[in-house]
Formats: sequence, C-alpha cells, structure tokens
Amino acid sequence: MQKFAYRPAIMLLMLIGVFITSCAGDKDPESASRFQEAEVDSSHVKQLDPETGLIAEGEYLLVRGSCTGCHSANLIMQNRMTRDNWLKSIRWMQETQGLWEFPPELEEKILDYLGTHYAPDQPKSIRRQPLKAVNWHVEGP
Ligand code: HEC
Repeated sequence: MQKFAYRPAIMLLMLIGVFITSCAGDKDPESASRFQEAEVDSSHVKQLDPETGLIAEGEYLLVRGSCTGCHSANLIMQNRMTRDNWLKSIRWMQETQGLWEFPPELEEKILDYLGTHYAPDQPKSIRRQPLKAVNWHVEGP
C-alpha cells in the first residue's frame, strides 16, 4: 500500500508537464504566421451572444431578457419558425406555461428578431460553409 502513496504526485507532475509542453507549442512563431496567412472568408459568420448563444444582432438583449428566464435559449435556437408561428408559440406559452403578457412594442421587437434570425430559411448549424476553390494537395506519384 505504502509503495503507491506518491502516485498522485507523479500524476500531477505529468499533467503539469503536458500543460507546459502544449503552451510552448502555441508560441511556435512559424505556426502563428501560417495562421495569419490562411485566407478565411468569415463574412457569413454571425456573432453569438457568449452567454446564451443567441445571434447577437438587433434586439437580442430584449429577447435574452424576456425569453431565457424559464428555459435555456436552446429551446429558441433549435427552432426555425415564421414570425406568425413564433407568435403562436408565445401565445401557447401564455395560455399553458404561465408566460406573462408583453407590452405590444416589446412583443413586436421580439417577433422581429425571432422571425429574422430564427426563420425557416436560416441554417440550424453554426458550422462554417464548405471551403470553396481549394487547391488540394495531391500525394505523389
Ligand atoms: C414563464 C416562463 C417562460 C418564459 C418567460 C418563456 N417561456 Fe418558452 N416555454 C416555457 C415552458 C414551460 C415551455 C415548455 C418547456 C418544455 O416543454 O420542456 C416553453 C417552451 C418553449 C419553446 C418550445 C416549444 C415547443 O413546441 O417545443 C419555445 C420555442 C419557446 N418556449 C420560446 C420562448 C420564447 C421565444 C420566449 C420569449 C418570448 C419564451 N419562450 C419565454 C416557459 C417560458
């Protein structure tokens, strides 16, 4: 039994070692410059609210404030609906789930946001679009 008492300490040292090595890798100047040279078209990438994952455009703070008190924003983000159906969803929550009434101007802004950013034609995945015109390296002969 005694023989193994130092094991946790050795494990810890190994972990620290792995951590230090991986940090050192980040500072490799060559890999850093390769990153900068890569041309990435990020024009289609939307900013996301770091707290909820909601698309951080327009009146998202109103939506965050009004819609994430009872459930996570995932329930919103996993749905795609027309503005009309978002309204139905809100009415359904008001009738059956204890959701309060919103002042009409607030409801309009919420619906504008949802109907724009979580509309049926918006992609569900936040994965990047496929790369275009890539000169793939072909292994010789
Ligand atoms: C008073 C609490 C409450 C608030 C505030 C609230 N919801 Fe809900 N919502 C619920 C409950 C409860 C459910 C049902 C959860 C479940 O089925 O697990 C739900 C479900 C949903 C669903 C899934 C509906 C379905 O058919 O599965 C969506 C979408 C949704 N909410 C969107 C919203 C939006 C958008 C807002 C802001 C306008 C909002 N919620 C605010 C309580 C609330």
